Amino acid sequence: MHNAELYQKSNTMQKRDAQQCLEEYAKKIKWKNDGDTIIDIGCGDGSVTSSILKKFLPYNYKRLVGCDISERMVQFANEHHATEHTSFAVLDIEGNLPDQMRENFDHAFSFYTLHWIKHQETAFTNIYRLLAKGGDCLLIFLGHMPVFDVYRILARSARWSYWLRDVDRFVSPYHDSQDPEKEIKRIMTTIGFTSVEVKCTQKSFIYTSVEALKKAVNAVNPFRMPAELQEDFLEDYVKIVRDMQLIDHVNNNINHVNIRTNYNLLIVFGKK
Ligand SMILES: C[S@@+](CC[C@H](N)C(=O)[O-])C[C@H]1O[C@@H](n2cnc3c(N)ncnc32)[C@H](O)[C@@H]1O
Repeated sequence: MHNAELYQKSNTMQKRDAQQCLEEYAKKIKWKNDGDTIIDIGCGDGSVTSSILKKFLPYNYKRLVGCDISERMVQFANEHHATEHTSFAVLDIEGNLPDQMRENFDHAFSFYTLHWIKHQETAFTNIYRLLAKGGDCLLIFLGHMPVFDVYRILARSARWSYWLRDVDRFVSPYHDSQDPEKEIKRIMTTIGFTSVEVKCTQKSFIYTSVEALKKAVNAVNPFRMPAELQEDFLEDYVKIVRDMQLIDHVNNNINHVNIRTNYNLLIVFGKK
């Protein structure tokens, strides 16, 4: 998923969830009001950073840095969303933090990214290190999500097993978890976070056409495969969704469908 053009056209669900989460949680955040510094981890194309997160920041914030592991995403974000106080930089939240970033931010946000991270302790430790003393973080990411079941089913098929051989890298570490709230709280409090709140919320999103579903799946498809296989992959993806009986025909109309996605979104708040 490095295609920013594609992603920005098909991230309606991610945008809706970021907006709803900020509406509910932004009031918990203690703004300094004399120039806060903010980081958005896994900013992707930068549209959530600049069109959603920014609306909730104090008007006089000092610096907003969006960061992402993907150079292509960061380049796109800089080209389309950089301003005097907003910039985008490459950063792997699961890697070594550059010294100059440590303790540099009053607030860390992350939307729809941390479920991509296998070493959760490393990512949470890095978030802690990014924060200045008294700083806070608000993070949203996926727990259980049917998309991951579809990936696993496809990975077991003869046709796709080769291309999806690293499927487990792309399934949320909390997809199978019985008590993700407890697991995350434990990780964060061990690191030193205080006032930790973790909420596993049930969400639902409806795609109103097979095309819309395919676009959304394609926009976040993490598997490297030749371009000429991508349409077949999406076709087979939809077949599995159909087998899982997640496609309803509205008023028995063959072309008018609702495709339900019920999933768990983890909303995490913590202070340093
Ligand atoms: C689904 S996008 C979310 C983009 C944006 N936050 C939004 O809500 O629309 C997930 C992003 O996380 C980035 N990402 C994945 N692993 C990462 C890592 N280890 N460090 C930083 N970013 C990462 C991906 O490159 C991708 O742009």
